[in-house]
Amino acid sequence: MQDQFGRTIEYLRLSVTDRCNLRCRYCMPEEGVADLAHGDVLRYEEMLRVVAAACRLGIRKVRVTGGEPLVRRGIVNFIGQLAALPEKPEITLTTNGLLLAEQAEALKAAGLSRVNVSLDTMRPERFKELTLRPGLNQVLAGIQAAEGVGLLPIKINVIPFVDFNTDEIVDFARLTLEHPWDVRFIEFMPISSDLDYASRDGLSMAEVEARLRTLGELEALPYQRTSGPAHMYRLPGAKGRIGLIPSVSGHFCGDCNRLRVMADGRVRGCLFDNQETDLKPILRDGGDDQALEDLLLATACAKPEKHQIHDKDFTTPNRRMHGIGG
Ligand code: GTP
Ligand code: 5AD
Ligand code: SF4
Repeated sequence: MQDQFGRTIEYLRLSVTDRCNLRCRYCMPEEGVADLAHGDVLRYEEMLRVVAAACRLGIRKVRVTGGEPLVRRGIVNFIGQLAALPEKPEITLTTNGLLLAEQAEALKAAGLSRVNVSLDTMRPERFKELTLRPGLNQVLAGIQAAEGVGLLPIKINVIPFVDFNTDEIVDFARLTLEHPWDVRFIEFMPISSDLDYASRDGLSMAEVEARLRTLGELEALPYQRTSGPAHMYRLPGAKGRIGLIPSVSGHFCGDCNRLRVMADGRVRGCLFDNQETDLKPILRDGGDDQALEDLLLATACAKPEKHQIHDKDFTTPNRRMHGIGG
């Protein structure tokens, strides 16, 4: 699947729910989100049909996202169905880790290949302050469980915020000395204008790098396609790696290989572009697989060349992060 700018689209992000068991203040309003009307969320068999069509078009990797994907009932079985598709796509998951300890073994057995865990602080009080819920120990147990069952490599996503967790950047980086994990720092993206968090609240990757240098020489690792948008480094003698994802200051749209399907059956070519294609009419009104493939292909072809975050008339997307899935 190639878009009009010659990019090969082979990575599908599938948001299975916009709901979450945390309330990260930069992502969700405190009161949570209103229930989607009955029938608005795709059933698993509908999602499976979409992913099957996408795989026939050349999707090789499917990342299951949310909200929090592990809160949706039947997720393990669904992941098993995705992994069993004839093209055998790689199935990965991004989770906040709260329910990971109890589901890791079943997820691995179902065919999940690995997990990315979002974790912005390792201090219980701060965890509660940011996510409005307790649960740090559950997340840490989830990471251990994922490692124990071989959901490897484990990637930990950290968003550094000014005046919140900057003093933990080195603590997170030090985890890589003892553990074979990828700890990835991500520049905060201004997705939601109604949540009181702006670009200036996130640290730039240049600032993160300056703090990391206090730990010693950072060895820059050669670029690998599997690293996605992350620039990878290693501390001297470390078992794991450090990643920097310059989502705002970097310009990785030229290599973007993603398509996003959301829980309500709409498809987005770009995180920041409100243009969406609705697959539901085809799924529910008897459309055939060819029609589904044609619509997916058309959406991929129409992917914008790049995001407009730096434009002065940039407006935030009309969905929050929990609704798009990152
Ligand atoms: P890997 O397959 O392990 O490389 O995962 P990933 O980095 O693609 O996925 P993950 O869900 O861990 O997302 C990491 C960060 O990258 C999150 O902050 C995402 O919101 C961000 N991200 C994902 N896709 C895009 C994108 O297309 N553009 C931008 N600017 N950021 C993205
Ligand atoms: N900017 C950057 N990353 C974000 N995430 C959630 N909201 C934002 C944002 N505004 C991250 C989460 C998760 C991944 C899917 O996206 O931490 O790891
Ligand atoms: Fe939930 Fe992830 Fe949003 Fe936090 S960032 S509220 S864990 S979806």
